[in-house]
Amino acid sequence: IFENAQEGAIRAAHEIASVIRSKQKEGRNAVLGLATGTSPINVYRELVRLHKEDNLSFKNVITFNLDEYYPMKPDELQSYVYFMHEHLFNHIDILPENINIPDGTLPIEKVKEYCLNYEKKIEAVGGIDVQLLGIGRTGHIGFNEPGSSNQTVTRLVKLDPLTITDAAKDFIKEEFVPLRAITMGVGTIMKARKIILLAWGEGKAKILQKTIEGNISDEVPASFLQQHPNVQVIVDQWAALELT
Ligand code: F6R
Repeated sequence: IFENAQEGAIRAAHEIASVIRSKQKEGRNAVLGLATGTSPINVYRELVRLHKEDNLSFKNVITFNLDEYYPMKPDELQSYVYFMHEHLFNHIDILPENINIPDGTLPIEKVKEYCLNYEKKIEAVGGIDVQLLGIGRTGHIGFNEPGSSNQTVTRLVKLDPLTITDAAKDFIKEEFVPLRAITMGVGTIMKARKIILLAWGEGKAKILQKTIEGNISDEVPASFLQQHPNVQVIVDQWAALELT
């Protein structure tokens, strides 16, 4: 629990940087699972700073983003492709071919095969070393809304009405928010060797309490993280308000 989100974000960035650096020393790739939204913005800012001021290279880094709206064109302002370039990729030395973000432009009949290949691609590079997560007020991680089991894999999902309401701020009007998304599954996330969950602000306090102290259930998909052997939950004092 950190006094403020900024300090927590710096801690998360340093955890990620240390994974990248230790893999570099071994001459291996570091595979990162990445999130979008408000929660990781300051983490990416600190990673960019470490790249510019502290010699952190991303040449050995392979990334897989958790999710993308469907349908969504990469050049739209609300796309997660746009977000990731704006906040991270445009400012570091990652190789473009090492960036993976679910494709929101595919025709519907191609989505299933694409999702299976996304899973295979993660496995082919040795699995995710560190997965960064935010949490939605529904208890979603990625876009695994209530009802998502711990066996779920990358797939097309429907967004929960509360998630659509929360996303409306980015789309001017609620009617403009896509109804669906492609997301890694809870099962995909659970395979990561290390997980960092971020939560800032009082708005996350209730769902964070259920996630950490509540029953493990698909009603709160994030609660499955209780079963993972290596999770760090990095929060500010406001998100921690409801913890006992
Ligand atoms: C984003 C994602 C979502 C967000 C969550 C919290 O890639 O997978 O699970 O992490 O909706 O969003 P923010 O951080 O905007 O509160």
